Amino acid sequence: VSTREKKFKKSIMMVVSTTTVVDPRILSASPFRFHFIVLCFFALSSFPVVSLALVISSFSGVSRHSSTPRWPVVLSAGKGFGSRSGSGGGFEKSTGSASKKKNVSTKKNSAASPPLNSFQAAANSNPKEAARILKLYGGDIQKGTVERIKIARSELERSNPALGEAMNLYEQSTMFRRSVEGLSVMQEAEVPVEAWEMENRRERRLVEIHEEFGVTTTEIHNAFQLLTWDASAEARGFRGSAELPKNMSERLGLALSLATERISSKEGRLLDVGCGTGVTVGEIIARNLLAPKQVVGLDISPEMTAVASRKYTRSAFVASDFMDYSVEENGSFESVLFCMSLHDLPDPVAAITQAISLCNRGGRIVITHPRGASHVQMQNRKNPIMVRNQLPDATQLGAICSSFDGVELTYAPADAGSSKDAAEGYLAVLEVKE
Ligand SMILES: C[S@@+](CC[C@H](N)C(=O)[O-])C[C@H]1O[C@@H](n2cnc3c(N)ncnc32)[C@H](O)[C@@H]1O
Repeated sequence: VSTREKKFKKSIMMVVSTTTVVDPRILSASPFRFHFIVLCFFALSSFPVVSLALVISSFSGVSRHSSTPRWPVVLSAGKGFGSRSGSGGGFEKSTGSASKKKNVSTKKNSAASPPLNSFQAAANSNPKEAARILKLYGGDIQKGTVERIKIARSELERSNPALGEAMNLYEQSTMFRRSVEGLSVMQEAEVPVEAWEMENRRERRLVEIHEEFGVTTTEIHNAFQLLTWDASAEARGFRGSAELPKNMSERLGLALSLATERISSKEGRLLDVGCGTGVTVGEIIARNLLAPKQVVGLDISPEMTAVASRKYTRSAFVASDFMDYSVEENGSFESVLFCMSLHDLPDPVAAITQAISLCNRGGRIVITHPRGASHVQMQNRKNPIMVRNQLPDATQLGAICSSFDGVELTYAPADAGSSKDAAEGYLAVLEVKE
């Protein structure tokens, strides 16, 4: 056997092993992609049929993976609309078209900001960790996340059947109401009486569960948050700030400088509410705005804070519902920051009130969403279960401030849908006067 033939065989073995062992997305994003393509051609010229099949199967994998939504998906209970199919004319049609519309908008959304870019950007600098994360999610982040949520949800249903049942009812009820809201007045009149009766039964049962087991809407909402964010923590932690496009990073910069400028270089602390995997904490440290120990990250998801603690070892991270985090036990802060998180909390007004109670005199509450209030509005329409709320506008914030002595709105947010919102995102600053 000549040395040339041996080389051929070696190169083919490499193509085979890389395409089967390593996910092709890592290769396509890696600095070795040129070598990979040369090898493919090399193998193609000597063993056309086998290598062509390999290359096709490898790249069909890439296209299968390429529609991962950036927003975690809450699983539908699968019982709601499905079980009613065949029960009524106009209503059936309307829900059908609503679900079609949903698919179209998901596609549009993923086309506008390709979700794999952030994964690939991160994979470029750390292919080994990319491979670990992919393995953890069974080779597909989107499917893997959905699968993890499903497993955790059935475990929760077993350990706490009352909460599990309430979550299913709440989910079906929210989706029913959302689809009715989406109908015109005429179509709304066509919603069959049985559908409303079923909705009334769901609501009565939710009241019963509340009375018998004390399950509240807040608890249901938090359970959805916990399941979803826990399941996506590792993948989000890996993508990290690779997720932030440049203009978002600039907008975040303004919010962070407002949140930190009153804090001296040695003293004072900032609380990052809904810190997730610590992207914002990382930005504060990287921009030298505060020392790591001056930043405390808090999140309801222990998986999120575990990832954040691994990354930023000198900052403190707390796994807690923000509404349970009291000033008596934890002391006060010079600054309380909500970065892309206020809309995820069950009651934004209560959350701002809680932030005021945690804030020192002379301190600030900064609420930001670099993508803007209209982005949150869109998320709320798409997924009202996870994104139950919208961001408060200037009037609503003014009303909250006026119910406290010495709290002022010093930076008013742009209205959702305004050109300012599109250009600058959402930014609000409340000051607790000295
Ligand atoms: C969209 S993520 C934002 C994460 C992070 N701030 C960032 O910018 O990457 C929202 C976070 O809020 C957290 N969250 C939701 N409800 C919460 C609650 N009641 N208390 C604390 N954190 C909460 C979620 O677990 C999630 O990590």
